Amino acid sequence: MALDVLVVGSGGREHALVTGLRRSPDLGRLFCAPGNAGIGRDAILVPIAADDIRGLADFAEREGIDLTVVGPEAPLVEGIADIFEARGLTVFGPVQEGALLEGSKSFAKGVMAAAGVPTGRAAPFNDYDSAHAYLREHGVPIVVKADGLAAGKGVTVAQTIAEADEALRECFLEDRFGVAGRTVLLEECLVGEEVSLLAIVSGGRVLPLAPAQDYKRIFDGDKGPNTGGMGCYSPVPSMTPALYDEIVRTVFRPTVDELQRRGVDFRGVLYAGMILTADGPRVLEFNTRFGDPETQALIPRLRSDLLALLRAAARGEELPEAAEWSEGPCVGVVMASRGYPASSSKGDVIRGLDQAVALPGVEVFHSGTALNGGDLVTDGGRVLTVSALGSSFAEARRLAYQGVALIDFEGSQHRTDIALRAELGEEGEA
Ligand code: GLY
Repeated sequence: MALDVLVVGSGGREHALVTGLRRSPDLGRLFCAPGNAGIGRDAILVPIAADDIRGLADFAEREGIDLTVVGPEAPLVEGIADIFEARGLTVFGPVQEGALLEGSKSFAKGVMAAAGVPTGRAAPFNDYDSAHAYLREHGVPIVVKADGLAAGKGVTVAQTIAEADEALRECFLEDRFGVAGRTVLLEECLVGEEVSLLAIVSGGRVLPLAPAQDYKRIFDGDKGPNTGGMGCYSPVPSMTPALYDEIVRTVFRPTVDELQRRGVDFRGVLYAGMILTADGPRVLEFNTRFGDPETQALIPRLRSDLLALLRAAARGEELPEAAEWSEGPCVGVVMASRGYPASSSKGDVIRGLDQAVALPGVEVFHSGTALNGGDLVTDGGRVLTVSALGSSFAEARRLAYQGVALIDFEGSQHRTDIALRAELGEEGEA
């Protein structure tokens, strides 16, 4: 059985998915639309944008694609899965109503409230005056969240009234996020370690994946502005088996049951961004797709057949009770271009990749790369993720940073403390 697969998207997450799918004995042809220069070494690139849903469906029909795997959230929220399903195409990714868990934060809060899922207290507003009055009454710290998709820029953790007010003005008075910011949630500020837990969902079935830890800020010590993610590791030592089971029982199970109760046949990834507060785990947000860079730390560890899992979920079939993972951890370090996250630079020549991937256990996933003549060049803010498997966090970190040191491009920046606390925890245990 050789299955032809199309991956939709163009980042490090999609490169990691492509790499995972290539390990399956059942894989036939592997396409990626639109992909990037690195993905082009591992899959056949198709020049169709990730938001050109009809173009993608036409391609899948014409080529007889057996499974389409959707990476980014925007086409899911636009209803790509509904359109594919209506055309008889098998797709991994939730239908539009399921994707609303990510596409509308107030919808997600409604589902969580109905399902009894632990999350922060929040109130929705549709105008500046009433939001501002609530802000005055409740004070800071407070989190201001644009309701819809805002390319990762719609959330402000405000420490002062002025900061919160500025965020409200951007949404309501300056229309910075368009419709995505015309409803705003004001939410209590949760304090604790942030952990990502993703599950593959097949209708009413839930297959939780290994936990992962993302680093959102640009600089070491969690300083500086937020980014799309500067690094990741998996597993997460602070996520004990008991805590993991609690989150599956109190978050994933009731959310999927509530979706079923509403008639939503969710087939895709449910990703819970969790805060481990002193009062227990709380959901910070739901996403309805694989995380980036979480996927670059999860796929190198996955020992189960990724294609079999995604295909089973896309068809609403049985899932195994647990996936199989490497014993050792994976550490992924993101290399970003000059000016990121405020801006990004393009066209700088990247050197040293072959030496980096020659290191044992090291894989390099491309996010923003392109070909310029014969040169591999930067083409965006986040450029590469250097991921390494090791027998311990110390070894995985050492290998990942050895790989980073071998790669060179003008203006390159990365954090030096990815998975440091996991390594220090290991030393503490020894
Ligand atoms: N790691 C954050 C995200 O994928 O949204």
